[in-house]
Amino acid sequence: MTPINRELFTSLPLDPSSSSPLHRQLYDGVRNAILRGALRPGTRLPATRALARSLGLSRNTVMTAFDQLLAEGYIEGRHGSGTFVSSSLPEQLLQIPDSETPHARLKKPSSRLSHRGQVIAASPGAVHQIEPIARPFEIGPALDAFPRKLWARLAIRRLRVGTPDFFGYAPSAGYAPLREAIATYVGTSRGVHCTAEQVIVVSGSKRAIHLAANVLLDPGEVTWMEDPGYPTARRVLQGAGARVVPVPVDDQGLDVEAGKSRYPAARLAYVTPSHQYPLGVTMSLARRLSLLEWAATRRAWVLEDDYDSEYRYEGRPLESLQGLDRASRVVYIGSLSKVLFPALRLGYLIVPSALVDTFVTAHSILDGASPTLEQSVLADFITEGHFIRHLRRMRTLYVERQACLVRAAARELGGLLDVQAAEAGMHLIGWLPKGIDDVAASLHARQAGIMARPLSAFTDKTRRPGGLLLGYSSVNRSQIWDGARRLASALRHVR
Ligand SMILES: Cc1ncc(COP(=O)(O)O)c(C=O)c1O
Repeated sequence: MTPINRELFTSLPLDPSSSSPLHRQLYDGVRNAILRGALRPGTRLPATRALARSLGLSRNTVMTAFDQLLAEGYIEGRHGSGTFVSSSLPEQLLQIPDSETPHARLKKPSSRLSHRGQVIAASPGAVHQIEPIARPFEIGPALDAFPRKLWARLAIRRLRVGTPDFFGYAPSAGYAPLREAIATYVGTSRGVHCTAEQVIVVSGSKRAIHLAANVLLDPGEVTWMEDPGYPTARRVLQGAGARVVPVPVDDQGLDVEAGKSRYPAARLAYVTPSHQYPLGVTMSLARRLSLLEWAATRRAWVLEDDYDSEYRYEGRPLESLQGLDRASRVVYIGSLSKVLFPALRLGYLIVPSALVDTFVTAHSILDGASPTLEQSVLADFITEGHFIRHLRRMRTLYVERQACLVRAAARELGGLLDVQAAEAGMHLIGWLPKGIDDVAASLHARQAGIMARPLSAFTDKTRRPGGLLLGYSSVNRSQIWDGARRLASALRHVR
């Protein structure tokens, strides 16, 4: 059991002259301390009477705030022993804005950890809590529709015919036939200009971002991050020593002018231009060109994460940034986690020719190489035409699943959540009515067995209305309808 942190409570910013009632201010203060990680799960809270006395508040005020925290699941009462921060708080809700941590939290140097180690230790940890079953509305591919038998057949064939070399150390740049297959695929489908030599196979986007940060950034160098943006990318970059700063996203994608005026010294920009994560907007051509021009003039780098560009249901996708880049400033990242399955742990980097050797060396130091069996099966899967067929089937399936979610939301969630169709991706954003807090809504949903991540968990500085991310591709029709009903009944209890 973690003991009471009295100092934290007495330093809560409470302002009797504010238009917000004191119980609300106290509730906000405690809730934020929990979400920031300053109050960890299991921490004991002071008794309401003692807290009221030390804060100069009435006991009723404190009890009202605690009642709301209890109702929303942030705290729990244990019979006879007091009140505690809930032990079952979902890890992915414990998101910390960059302005408050990890850098700001690094006040005293630890004798055991490096600066980077402390940044990593201060971050909220595993992003995805692994769920034993697909649950609505987790964002991910339709694992129930993956052609497992075919994959198994290709794997067995490879194992049977593999020479002893096949089981030895593999090249750090990746299995040559797979690099060829990827270069051909991204050339035709994403307008990426590259040769197979520029393709480096890694164990997913996280590893790709980490490698790029290690090779391209010095510790403390400024990196633009989309706000809202992909929290994992933010943490990986921070863990690699970058100073990550938020740049707002609007309906044209990353606001390049805002980035230039607020953080002119940036060395790198992380972007998801095909389908911004999590808002889903496509970066306009004008913004793409201005981002590339900024990178070329400042000799900065652009990290293009093209994680789910395959799933566009209407209109033609815009060409990748990499394909528009004439100054070799773009490092392109592709992942197989969304198109095939996350456990495959395969992704790739496409780097400017001049950087290939350095990236391959960095990969050999940090990772060695990706597993040969999986790489060779994937190469066969692509070159024998199964990959394109699988994508076509998944597009049709996801269009149906998205339409099903929109229908189910219209029927079950009217007045509680506004869910509109989108032309790309694997999730929709459900907008909550004004004044409803999305973290509280997400917690209620989770207690009802529904995964609906709050939009504010992706946001650093730019305030937005409350929203919930609803993945539809991983769940079938009956799970979608059942999920919508359970979500509706959870949201009715959110104040
Ligand atoms: C924006 C974004 N990029 C990339 C990925 C894939 O990451 P990885 O390849 O490490 O599984 C995800 C998965 O959630 C994502 O949301």
